[in-house]
Amino acid sequence: MTASPDDLPAAVPAMWRALKRGYQAEPVLLPVAFGLSLLAALPDALIALWLMFLADGVTQGDRTLMVVSALGLGGSATATWFLRVVSDRTQRRFRDRVTIALESHVAQLQASVSTIAHHERPDYLDRLAVLRDQVFVLDHMYMSLFGTAGWVLRLGITVALLVSIHPALAALALFALPTVLTSTWRPGAERAAEERGASSVRLARHLFDVATTAPPGKEVRLTGIGQRLVARRRAAWERWYGPVASARWASAAWHTVAWAIFGAAFVGSVVFVAQVIEGTPGQVLLVLAAGSRLSAYLSATVGEIGFLRGVWLDGSRRLAWLEDYAASLTVDADQPVPHRIEDGITLERVSFAYPGTDRLVLEDVDLHLPAGAVVAVVGENGAGKSTLVKLLARMYTPTSGRILVDGADLSRMPADEWRERLAGAFQDFYRFELHAQQTVGLGDRPRLEDRPAVTTAVRRAGAEDVVTHLAAGLDTQLGPSWPGGVEVSFGQWQKLALARGFMRDDPLLLILDEPTAALDAETEHALFERYAAISRAGAEAGSNGRITVLVSHRFSTVRMADLIVVLDGARIVEHGAHETLMANHGPYAELYGIQAAAYR
Ligand SMILES: Nc1ncnc2c1ncn2[C@@H]1O[C@H](COP(=O)(O)OP(=O)(O)O)[C@@H](O)[C@H]1O
Ligand SMILES: [Mg+2]
Repeated sequence: MTASPDDLPAAVPAMWRALKRGYQAEPVLLPVAFGLSLLAALPDALIALWLMFLADGVTQGDRTLMVVSALGLGGSATATWFLRVVSDRTQRRFRDRVTIALESHVAQLQASVSTIAHHERPDYLDRLAVLRDQVFVLDHMYMSLFGTAGWVLRLGITVALLVSIHPALAALALFALPTVLTSTWRPGAERAAEERGASSVRLARHLFDVATTAPPGKEVRLTGIGQRLVARRRAAWERWYGPVASARWASAAWHTVAWAIFGAAFVGSVVFVAQVIEGTPGQVLLVLAAGSRLSAYLSATVGEIGFLRGVWLDGSRRLAWLEDYAASLTVDADQPVPHRIEDGITLERVSFAYPGTDRLVLEDVDLHLPAGAVVAVVGENGAGKSTLVKLLARMYTPTSGRILVDGADLSRMPADEWRERLAGAFQDFYRFELHAQQTVGLGDRPRLEDRPAVTTAVRRAGAEDVVTHLAAGLDTQLGPSWPGGVEVSFGQWQKLALARGFMRDDPLLLILDEPTAALDAETEHALFERYAAISRAGAEAGSNGRITVLVSHRFSTVRMADLIVVLDGARIVEHGAHETLMANHGPYAELYGIQAAAYR
């Protein structure tokens, strides 16, 4: 693995890459928005200058100077508002457009990663979750960069104006530093206090959910724990709030001290200009106006830079990481996906450990799945059945060994093309809350709205009863949180998921990983009996050599398979047809005996 979680790409190049991405997305809007935010900073910073001219004009009785400076003042004020509106609008537009571009980019990257390893590793998951959240703030970052440039410009002009009166006045900027320090340091300290109490907040929120939401409602009432939940929630909240409140008071105290220092220096500099260097009234006014803005400009600058550092650098590094990670997984796909399977799928000494772990979940698996066969995989929980299926679906690549489809290496076929030739359903299916038609139709995206195709799939899955119970049949919205949406039971969801899995008409590989565990044994048996019959009939009729891989706990279902593979502790311990395995009196026969006895 070339990209591990600890080696995020370096910050500056990553930020540069994110910038370039923004530029690629909006090559015109980006410079325009940037220029406007600089322009908008100008008139605001120049107001102090006009004030000085105005005051000097008044005291010297110079009418021209008075009129010009009054016009300048009015113009500056107007331009400040006007440019702020224009630049805000431009920036917002840029931001909206760049958000969509970045979101699509991240989604595209995640989808382009052909294995699902990154969806199952906790460290990657955390990182992706943060990235997903940060996509929404990444756009703030561009704003923040524009903002920073604007503040730096204002600050520069203001200091230049002060220095133009007397170089010593530059020192006023130094006295503003304590306010900057407290305004950067204290929010962090407050946040730290909040974060230290995060587990209490989480607990409080959880208790609130338990006390107020529907799913736990019955049991909350039955057990009578309602009052206790409320009390414990209150206590958890207090545990969080106490330290946070003290941190906020401390902040207030620090701010007061810092502003007192700046205030003293400010008054001092006004006195300095008026008394010591005997400046004109206009110069005094300039110091008043510029000085009072200085601290605001300085803290805005420092604040923006801190924001940039904290979020953008981090966000852009994660984005760069995802880009690198996606690129690192792209392998040469130089083998075509066959139209039909002639011989079969062969596993050659396949071993597999989940990324980030070194325990082999499959070890030295040699297996031939003949074209046209129905293959059942059995074994205890954790034996590696689902893992085997995921490898066949190319969700992962074997750690060592090869999977060959008619002799060609599966890992060198384009993953998306291979998956287009897969069909099937998993135990941990997803509840797509759409219209029933689409929930099923998704199984073959081009035929999402194809009513006859969906009806056929529903029939294949034996899910007709689910559909007939829906008020508007296939046009019923699923999921009670949507307008007009209905909730269906777990078993019904499962049947719909199964129907989705049966949407494709000519898959090369059909995977059924305990998709019917919630159904009763007889329904499952009947379903697969019929399914296997169709499948075999197809194979005889010279179809595409489809292989069906079925994972089930129920031996009544398993026994009808052409080939039964028994997994135990990452290895294949036995394989063959039901009769052969029974005659062997091995592990299969034993397991079969236990289950048959239980049913008798
Ligand atoms: N994403 C994963 N990351 C790490 N280990 C996993 C992951 N998925 C499954 N495992 C482990 O691999 C082993 C085999 O799991 P699985 O193939 O799901 O077994 P089965 O389907 O036979 O119950 C188990 O020990 C399980 O804990
Ligand atoms: Mg499983």
